[in-house]
Amino acid sequence: MTQATPTPLTDANPLRVGLRMERSPQPCAMVIFGVTGDLAHRKLVPALWALNEAQQLPPGFSIVGIGRRPMSDDDLRQQVRAVLAEESRADTAMLDAFLEGVFYVRGTFEDQTTYQRLAARLEQIDHDRGTGGNRVFYLATPPSEFPTIIEQLGAARLVRHHDEEGGWTRVVIEKPFGRDLRSARELNRIVHRVFDESQVYRIDHYLGKETVQNILHFRFANAIWEPIWNRRYVDHVQITVAEDIGIGTRAGYYEEAGVVRDMLANHMLQLLTLTAMEPPIAFDANAVRDEKVKVLRGARPFDRERVLREAVRGQYGPGWIGGERVPGYRQEPNVAPDSPTPTYVAATFWIDTWRWEGVPFYLRSGKRLPKRVTEIAIQFKPVPKLLFGPTTPNVLAFRIQPDEGITLQFEAKIPGPAVRQRSVTMDFRYGTAFAVAPADAYQRLLLDVMLGDGTLFARSDEIEAAWALVGPLLETWEALPPSDFPNYAAGTWGPDAADQMLETTGRRWRRP
Ligand code: BG6
Repeated sequence: MTQATPTPLTDANPLRVGLRMERSPQPCAMVIFGVTGDLAHRKLVPALWALNEAQQLPPGFSIVGIGRRPMSDDDLRQQVRAVLAEESRADTAMLDAFLEGVFYVRGTFEDQTTYQRLAARLEQIDHDRGTGGNRVFYLATPPSEFPTIIEQLGAARLVRHHDEEGGWTRVVIEKPFGRDLRSARELNRIVHRVFDESQVYRIDHYLGKETVQNILHFRFANAIWEPIWNRRYVDHVQITVAEDIGIGTRAGYYEEAGVVRDMLANHMLQLLTLTAMEPPIAFDANAVRDEKVKVLRGARPFDRERVLREAVRGQYGPGWIGGERVPGYRQEPNVAPDSPTPTYVAATFWIDTWRWEGVPFYLRSGKRLPKRVTEIAIQFKPVPKLLFGPTTPNVLAFRIQPDEGITLQFEAKIPGPAVRQRSVTMDFRYGTAFAVAPADAYQRLLLDVMLGDGTLFARSDEIEAAWALVGPLLETWEALPPSDFPNYAAGTWGPDAADQMLETTGRRWRRP
């Protein structure tokens, strides 16, 4: 099964080389639609700056912001400077040079002339800064704008295909990608009328997290786990994405999305697929994504009866977090006083494959839980015969955030003459082992886009398989408005029904 001689890292094998070595992208311009928005300020600009500081941006790299507000290049540069002022200890010369590459084009996304002005600006930048016709279009707008922008980019002939001369074009699309299977398919159709799939980067920032990528290294760069990574040894898997924050000022978005669309349909399914997938034939974009899609296709569909038995939704009421009184979801600004939007989900997934038949994957995520913690815990089956009395199960836990690391829990003899044991842990901590803070997820993902590496992005069939899986869950719940919301207090671990869902199988949620 394993190869004795590793495949050499050669230029003939660029992805393998690329993913392992320092990489530098070709000169390019990044066009950000929605440059004055929250995402651009909170994530994109700081990530680009971090790449700049790490000297990973190509020479001549340029940012072109597009927005409706009347602003000049200098106004946008001031905004970028202000965003970076909080973060950066950079010397001013470096910042000034970075800002020289920042430009602004004013216009609405529906207006053809916006794209004509954009095209002229990009040509000028190619000429002045040597960006060679290479473009990344970043759609950091509300999703309702995606179709218009994509169609207009196509109509304005701003998209070059790989077989054309004169530079490459890529598009980055933020989540949520559709709100159900039908709308995701429709959006994929629109995207594919203009872009080839290889030009499309659907972002899920969980895949940019170092600890998430480490799941693949842990599984496929070590021979010792593979023999036990299956139904013979694994009792069940728990995937928890707990957040202590509420929804802040995002009610407009969250009322439409809810936790299933916001977390389960994307971030959590990514964690599930990386944990459950078969070894890919190579570490490249299509090989990895082929295996992830197979997990989603192998997942047992949710029918109504299964939703009622094996899924739980919740919404937080008022409570206490970190000693502070916090409002319930329905009391948050701009939330309907009788909102049925779930802020908590727990669901049982079954992957009906040879590897996983009969092993439940319990996924849960919620806002306003007692703390922020993301972990994947693999719980192993008990020993067949208890020689020394009762045991605590062996658990391998990936701590995705915070305190990034991996722990293995096993039984050990308590020193002394008595035959007694208790559970102890072996602990790997990223911070201690590598002594570097992990880079922000967007930093890694933006670099991958510029390098043309789509491994850590969702492919169209993956998105559709994810919606096909969670769609019936959403439909069932939307057809049956909840009668018990709010059903958990802020600062608690979610509704009682979620505990019962596991207790009926003789299991319990971890309290990470
Ligand atoms: C976003 C969701 O995609 O992920 C947010 O829209 C959520 O609701 C966030 O808070 C969580 O990301 P992270 O990186 O803080 O775990």
